[in-house]
Amino acid sequence: METLKKIIAAFGPSGREDAVREVLKEEIKQYVDEIKIDNMGNLICHKKGEGKRLMMAARMDEIGVIVTYIDDKGFVRFAAVGGVSPFNCINRGVRFENGLRGVISYETKNAAKDCGLDKMYIDIGAASREEAEEKVKIGDMAVFEGEFKTMGRRAASKTMDDRIGCYALLAAVKRTEKFGCDFYAVFTTQEELGMRGAKVAAVNVKPDMAIAIDVSGVGDTPESRIVDLKLGAGPSIKIKDGSYIIHPKSREFMFKCAKEAGIDYQVEAASFGGTDTGAIMLTGAGVAAATTSIPCRYIHSPQETVDLDDVENEIKFLKQMIESGIE
Ligand code: CO
Repeated sequence: METLKKIIAAFGPSGREDAVREVLKEEIKQYVDEIKIDNMGNLICHKKGEGKRLMMAARMDEIGVIVTYIDDKGFVRFAAVGGVSPFNCINRGVRFENGLRGVISYETKNAAKDCGLDKMYIDIGAASREEAEEKVKIGDMAVFEGEFKTMGRRAASKTMDDRIGCYALLAAVKRTEKFGCDFYAVFTTQEELGMRGAKVAAVNVKPDMAIAIDVSGVGDTPESRIVDLKLGAGPSIKIKDGSYIIHPKSREFMFKCAKEAGIDYQVEAASFGGTDTGAIMLTGAGVAAATTSIPCRYIHSPQETVDLDDVENEIKFLKQMIESGIE
């Protein structure tokens, strides 16, 4: 749990994943043969093995905000980094890379529901532009605060999306006894801005097969949107989302390995969203690719909630795929 907390707490909005990468690099280095950081900041960890090349990818970046303007009274205007919902911003805490804290609120002459990010600001406790400019600059990024907590077998925090995927991949590598393939664990950058890191990482790795580890929204809360996925029933094998359709080879491989691992799993066909898989599969001459997701409630809020048994099953699933290798 301490490792997970460390990975989640690390500052890492899209394009500034350095701190997350440092944590993961330290954790994984003794379990792999070679580590590279490419020009996009992807962390590429190679465990040499026989046979075909399997790449697993989890993404390091998180959504956040970026400073666009500071007014005369010291209030900071901002834009989104990734899919930031205005509704989830109001009266939330944010933290800048230098440790500075702030609170997001909105222009109260408008109704809160009518406020887009352009009607919001960050209050950093400054009384003037000069004072604010001593603390932040245009272009600085901040992430949402949301402390890690457990509620029985459930855990909630900011940035489960997708640090829980990073954690699962790391844990699977640590537990793997015999690598059944030439294996790459890749921790990618800038997914929230359109899968930018994964695309470049896959060009470098040239995998025969790639599996992305992500989170997926569920349909198990009151009056929720209809999604056939719930917390506590295992990780998903994702057949499709807005960015890809599973490759037949990956499909066969994943169902086989899920059965061999003896885990609970769910089959998911999402009508929206995208994952690194969508970018990876279109690199080189094409890659057999797929996603497995950890079900998650309240995605892109400071209280992203997962079930720890799902996480454990995901780790077992990944380990099984790494050990069995691909045809
Ligand atoms: Co996301």
